[in-house]
Amino acid sequence: MLQLVYISSSREAVSAAELQRILAASRRNNGRDGITGLLFFDGKRFLQALEGEADKVVAAFERIRDDARHSGVVVLSRREIAEREFGDWAMASRGAPHEEDAMLARVAELAANAAPAVQATFNSFAQVRRRAA
Ligand SMILES: Cc1cc2nc3c(=O)[nH]c(=O)nc-3n(C[C@H](O)[C@H](O)[C@H](O)COP(=O)(O)O)c2cc1C
Repeated sequence: MLQLVYISSSREAVSAAELQRILAASRRNNGRDGITGLLFFDGKRFLQALEGEADKVVAAFERIRDDARHSGVVVLSRREIAEREFGDWAMASRGAPHEEDAMLARVAELAANAAPAVQATFNSFAQVRRRAA
């Protein structure tokens, strides 16, 4: 299986309704394609992890990358995994506080193996999210 994590910037303010549309399409398509993961949005940036069969994840990512609702898509991590690490959500967004802590802990683990600049990005993202919580 492939796990891919990227960060991007929303092109303009994404409303709650727009975010719901993104999540609805994600859950529908990802459920069909056996893709799971998580999607964070802090009001400006997206942070998403996608997990599943490599060809499905690549196809989904190519669609997502071309989405006009965001830009500056940067892949932070791309690696083979034996098992899903973000759980079985078709696409989780902000969940209950304890779930959010678990997701942030996962994200911190991923960042631990990444380059210092990537780690800094993750850490600032997590802090922004905590402040917003
Ligand atoms: C930040 C962001 C994350 C997205 N995540 C997913 C995703 O996980 N899966 C997915 O199928 N589409 C995702 N999308 C939407 C895709 O870009 C695209 O609009 C959608 O896959 C088209 O599906 P449809 O042809 O069924 O409408 C995402 C879009 C954005 C802006």
